Amino acid sequence: MGMPSASPTGDPASSSSNALARTLSWPHLIAMGVGAIVGTGILTLIGIGADKAGPAVLVSFLIAGFVCMCGALCYAEMASTITASGSAYTYSLVVLGRMVAWMVGWSLILEYSLVISAVSVSWSGYAAPLLNELFGMPMAIMAGPHAGGIANVPALIIILLIAGLLLLGTGKSAAFNMLLVAVKLSALALFVWFALPHFDMANLSPFSPYGFSRSMGDDGIERGIMAAAAIIFSAFYGFDAIATAGEEAKNPKRDLAIGIVGSMLACAAIYTIIALAALGSTHFSIFANSPEPLALILRKLDQPFAAHFLAVTAVLTLPTVILAFLYGQSRVFFVMARDGMLPRGLAKVSKRGAPVRITIFTVTVVGIIALFVPLEEIVAMANAGTLVAFTSVAVCMLILRVRQPDLPRGFRTPLAWIIGPVAIAGCLYLMFSLPQQTLLWFLIWNLVGIAIYFAYSRRNSARHSIS
Ligand code: ALA
Repeated sequence: MGMPSASPTGDPASSSSNALARTLSWPHLIAMGVGAIVGTGILTLIGIGADKAGPAVLVSFLIAGFVCMCGALCYAEMASTITASGSAYTYSLVVLGRMVAWMVGWSLILEYSLVISAVSVSWSGYAAPLLNELFGMPMAIMAGPHAGGIANVPALIIILLIAGLLLLGTGKSAAFNMLLVAVKLSALALFVWFALPHFDMANLSPFSPYGFSRSMGDDGIERGIMAAAAIIFSAFYGFDAIATAGEEAKNPKRDLAIGIVGSMLACAAIYTIIALAALGSTHFSIFANSPEPLALILRKLDQPFAAHFLAVTAVLTLPTVILAFLYGQSRVFFVMARDGMLPRGLAKVSKRGAPVRITIFTVTVVGIIALFVPLEEIVAMANAGTLVAFTSVAVCMLILRVRQPDLPRGFRTPLAWIIGPVAIAGCLYLMFSLPQQTLLWFLIWNLVGIAIYFAYSRRNSARHSIS
């Protein structure tokens, strides 16, 4: 194959009508990272994780966080070396070739779509009682068929609102995002303030009732520290959404690395404190599987006002996660369409620099998923896609080190030959700790991807994009 359209040092869009406006600097990117990372993972999945691992979900957090941090360091190097939009898809295109790039892009599409859908459905879970109380909106149109309703209309509405913000131009929505991130962090600080003084070692016993590796319980549910880690992993990613912003960063080489590593470190610290406060103040059996575990803990600690504040804040701020992933999704689609992997007409941008058609297409697909598909299992499937993307980034980082050792890099992964292989092995172990049903669905997703590649993308990308 010849040189791909995205070269390590070039910007494939800079001279075309498809160029995106450069409006983002590093504070926007850190806020975008924290906005994308802190969401349903810490607000709701901590309960599901506790159900799977007991108090040892703390270890699940550490394992998932450690693997994610290794992946983040590889990401930071790649993002500061290959600054074109498209994240893991673009790195794979440059380093591993078209077919692998397509499959990685196909995984990214799965990740971003399902995170947008999952967060909007869980947002709706918090918002539905308020909408019912304030506007008399019937509960039947605020839940999907799996939950006894017709369709989850609020989930669709929140996706449309966020898409509208994006179409107004990235700079405006990024500034709004920073405000929401500040509100979200203040609510979490309040949680720690009220919960941590109640820390009692007795709540951490028995520490690991379900053992380490994933195993099937008598009730048919797969549990264990690794089973929880494979789900909790979702709480940590989102920083990769920043890497898709390469073409819109003012100083991409420096700002992307600061944004990725900075937001990841901030979130790892925030989660550790929150998990300690939650598990130490309240026995896990009380909040395991709760749809609103942190608010429940505050109520149990006799803090109804703080619980209410946290719930309202979740409704106000979960959209930052949707914003970041919708942004990332539209950019991945945009780059793949520009390369001819997807229909090229989709890649046109508006006068404001926003890829309108791609955004509308994305919103249509994720909106339909959010309307009808159950929240359960969505997260596991999203994680499967993400783990493939992370693995490919670590592989790309190592290969590029060998192939082009002198290529200028804005950020170099420390101890690359330890961090890279640990990221790869960790991602694969997490992948195989996902529920078996998820792995089956993921296999089917990839078979569909391969079929599309040979039926359309291979021919089309060779004709249009790769010379
Ligand atoms: N990290 C994001 C969340 O927890 C996906 O919602």
